[in-house]
Amino acid sequence: MPHMTAFARNQWYVAAYSQEVGRELLGRTILGEPLVFYRTEEDGTPVVLHDRCVHRRYPLSEAPTRLDGDKIVCGYHGFTYDTTGTCVYVPGQKRVPRTARVASYPVIEQDSLIWVWIGDPALADPQTIPRAKHLDSPGWTTVRGMEPIDADYGLLVDNLLDLSHETYLHGGYIGTPEVAETPITTEVDEGAGIVRVSRHMDDAECPPFYAKSTGITGRINRWQDIEYHAPCLYLLHSRVAPVGVLPEADGSDPGGFHTEVTYCITPSGDGKVYDFWAVSRDWATDDDEVTEFLAGNNRTVVMQDVTALNLLQKTLGTERHGYQELSINIDTGGLAARRILARLVEEGDKPMEKVQ
Ligand code: FES
Ligand SMILES: [Fe+2]
Repeated sequence: MPHMTAFARNQWYVAAYSQEVGRELLGRTILGEPLVFYRTEEDGTPVVLHDRCVHRRYPLSEAPTRLDGDKIVCGYHGFTYDTTGTCVYVPGQKRVPRTARVASYPVIEQDSLIWVWIGDPALADPQTIPRAKHLDSPGWTTVRGMEPIDADYGLLVDNLLDLSHETYLHGGYIGTPEVAETPITTEVDEGAGIVRVSRHMDDAECPPFYAKSTGITGRINRWQDIEYHAPCLYLLHSRVAPVGVLPEADGSDPGGFHTEVTYCITPSGDGKVYDFWAVSRDWATDDDEVTEFLAGNNRTVVMQDVTALNLLQKTLGTERHGYQELSINIDTGGLAARRILARLVEEGDKPMEKVQ
């Protein structure tokens, strides 16, 4: 049995970056539901419809399906749908069957992310969407990408909640010995569905990722403060500063470099997950060389995880007699996340309380 975590359906998930949705049709599968995305001509609102024509199930995201104004015209026989998914034209007859409609889904565009709701639309409360303001705020520069992984989304949650793997899997990029050596503290807000994992390293080696981008040459204080909003949004508040330079009591931080690392963990289907990643910084914001370096370096780091998780999913799927895991201290955050995800799956119909 390959590793499989059930989906929490009544939750918001990131389906795309704002920049990916436009007047070209975009197809993406979220929680096993094939969806098609576009923006209206009228006011640029994102539209999300089920990606199968009600007639013979042609994928509406595939050519020669096209937009006619804000309507979508199926590329097979021309069934035409409005932005609510209602069919407004069929070929060869005047009467459009009453049942001719495709599902439309609640969608919210916020912080340069397109969030969709797959579950019961009556429960979709935009107020419960966690924020990632740094992705779309003046004063921040962001590099980003998305990689599909052939692995259960639970494996990506495990991966991100335990950064001690940086030392081994990402050595020479973001990993140094101190990451694996330094104990973590974990805090869980069960009600809000938030897991916080912190690792503060004093007098640590500066990994190439930060040495080359910030110009720091000596040893550093390095803070990693994870804030995981189950199920989808993962924030890593990162601070690096030369040893001895600490933030002032008033929060100002002479010599500290703040980086926000964002992941959106969106299950695509069983054993498939979209790995949205972004690195935002409030330093050297106009420096294109730094931007290029961070984009390339972080893509390499992400691909190291992608390769490892693809392999892990295959490996777990070939064990003949099932398997048992052995968890240790570093897994505290990941285990808390699994517990929360299991609850969200079980509750199913209860959205998260407002967390802001
Ligand atoms: S499959 Fe879409 S019109 Fe026939
Ligand atoms: Fe990683």
